[in-house]
Amino acid sequence: MSEALLPDPVSVTVRAPAKINVYLGVGKVRDDGFHPLETVYQAVSLYDDVTVTAAEEWAVTLLADGDHVDGSAVPDDDTNIVVRAGKALAAHHGIERAAEIEIRKTIPVAGGMAGGSADAAATLVALDRLWNLDTSDDDLLALAADLGSDVPFALVGGTATGTGRGEVVTPVDDAGTWWWVVVFSDEGLSTPSVYGAYDLLEGGDHDYRVRPAMLDTLRHPEDNPDGLPMFLYNDLEDAAFYLRPDLQTTAEAALECGAATTLLSGSGPTMLAMATDADHAREVAGRLAGRGYTRTAVAHGPVAGAHVVAYG
Ligand code: C5P
Repeated sequence: MSEALLPDPVSVTVRAPAKINVYLGVGKVRDDGFHPLETVYQAVSLYDDVTVTAAEEWAVTLLADGDHVDGSAVPDDDTNIVVRAGKALAAHHGIERAAEIEIRKTIPVAGGMAGGSADAAATLVALDRLWNLDTSDDDLLALAADLGSDVPFALVGGTATGTGRGEVVTPVDDAGTWWWVVVFSDEGLSTPSVYGAYDLLEGGDHDYRVRPAMLDTLRHPEDNPDGLPMFLYNDLEDAAFYLRPDLQTTAEAALECGAATTLLSGSGPTMLAMATDADHAREVAGRLAGRGYTRTAVAHGPVAGAHVVAYG
């Protein structure tokens, strides 16, 4: 059978997920300013879609999907992480190319859900397809790690442990479908400021390793259906609550609204309320809305990492 040759695409759209850290253990700050981590990432069903189109000059357009997305905080010039991703990919292959990059954003900006990292991962995959580069997975992961600690995970998706500064990603079997009410915040919170508060308050002098029993619970949720909530943990939570006491109030409200437990997402300020299933998540979100927390989304995980959704 002969194969028809497809023309090169004019545009490619890639969808990349937000991440949460169902476990985030943080050690003592390293000489390079980063903190050693042991984390368990989970990709959840909030997505940014990135569309790349061949162009002479780099350009970025942002479409904000939802009133929890503050597009004004996202640069539209070469400092945007998506342009840095595109330039890094071109340099890796020794080619001179540019592209127009449109980001349709649902993941909150500076929310602790790695939205910028998702956009960078999506851009790497989209430009690889647009330019027909066939970059190996290992090379894409290395380019991703240079762009930011959370970018490799956005490529891989699912559930995975992260070590190093978060960039060394190892997939974890996760047989569950876990439901979350994502409670957005009106303002962003800068990641370095939360790590700075962590250094002052706690310093990281403790055992921050992931408990093997947590990974067993993800692998075999049927053996321990109530197990995950008791393992959820984030070392940055006290630091984020110190900088933003309103987040602790949000956590208390979510518990009063019936959440199984609550957790800061990454370095915040997004808060997560865990639910037992989709209906329970919608109930908790409804009750939170009654208490004035109207900027929420119901999401589930794990979901796939960056993947092509359309060729134009
Ligand atoms: O790697 P990324 O660009 O996402 O990191 C943003 C900032 O977050 C870093 O400059 C650093 O202040 C802080 N960070 C850290 N330790 C990590 C990851 C991030 O201190 N493991």
